[in-house]
Amino acid sequence: MDQRRPLIAGNWKMNGLLADGVALAEGLAELSRQHDGLPPDAAAEVPPDVPLALPCDVLVCPPFTLIDRIVQAVAGTKIAVGGQDCHEKVSGAHTGDVAAEMLKDLGCRYVIVGHSERRADHLETDHAVRVKAEAALRAGLVAIICVGETEAERDAGQTEAVVARQIAGSVPPVATPATVVVAYEPVWAIGTGKTATPEEAQAVHARIRKELDALLGSAAASGMRILYGGSVKPGNAAELLGQPDIDGALVGGASLKVEDFWAIAAAAK
Ligand code: PGA
Repeated sequence: MDQRRPLIAGNWKMNGLLADGVALAEGLAELSRQHDGLPPDAAAEVPPDVPLALPCDVLVCPPFTLIDRIVQAVAGTKIAVGGQDCHEKVSGAHTGDVAAEMLKDLGCRYVIVGHSERRADHLETDHAVRVKAEAALRAGLVAIICVGETEAERDAGQTEAVVARQIAGSVPPVATPATVVVAYEPVWAIGTGKTATPEEAQAVHARIRKELDALLGSAAASGMRILYGGSVKPGNAAELLGQPDIDGALVGGASLKVEDFWAIAAAAK
């Protein structure tokens, strides 16, 4: 019995001017409306191999500049919108930063924190990530907390130790399955076309769940969704998502194409 509903999340990163972003969201919204309901003639256009009701939650995380428009574009569908980062504070003198409350105010339901690109580009530590996750919870957002080892760490046999340390340092002790999602993204697999094999990914996900168990207790650990990320595509999604501890995907490049992203969502169990 598995009570973890898969989540397929698109991380658009720093991509999309207004027209492209809105077109992408409108394309997804149209598919979602067809699938979830509706007029029989619209439903007839759905490709026959795609199930009518998707067995997963679907989320898009556009750049801050597009969030307001994307929330409007997906209104009336089940597609959720999230931010890609947030500041720890509610407001104040933090030039260029965006508070979790601001994301919530625009209609976001999720925010990604601690993505490896932020850890690398902005020197975010585990502690900084945890404080951002706590800000997300304070604002009523679900925090998607990212962890993952570099290629050098994997080559040195440190993968499990690194992700265990990141989980212990980045996940707030009050996290529950309703408020936090973990994303395992091996840094060497992001945007490279290299993917962990389903077995490699499963082994790390199981290790993460063990660490969550130690931190949060078994009920929270067994209910918490752990997404895989790093070059997820329509061609490898079903196998990855078929692993027992992989509860969805955080998708970068392939989330920028309507058909690819939808095919990944349709591959969720
Ligand atoms: P990718 O990115 O799918 O382009 O590898 C994933 C991510 O960084 O979230």
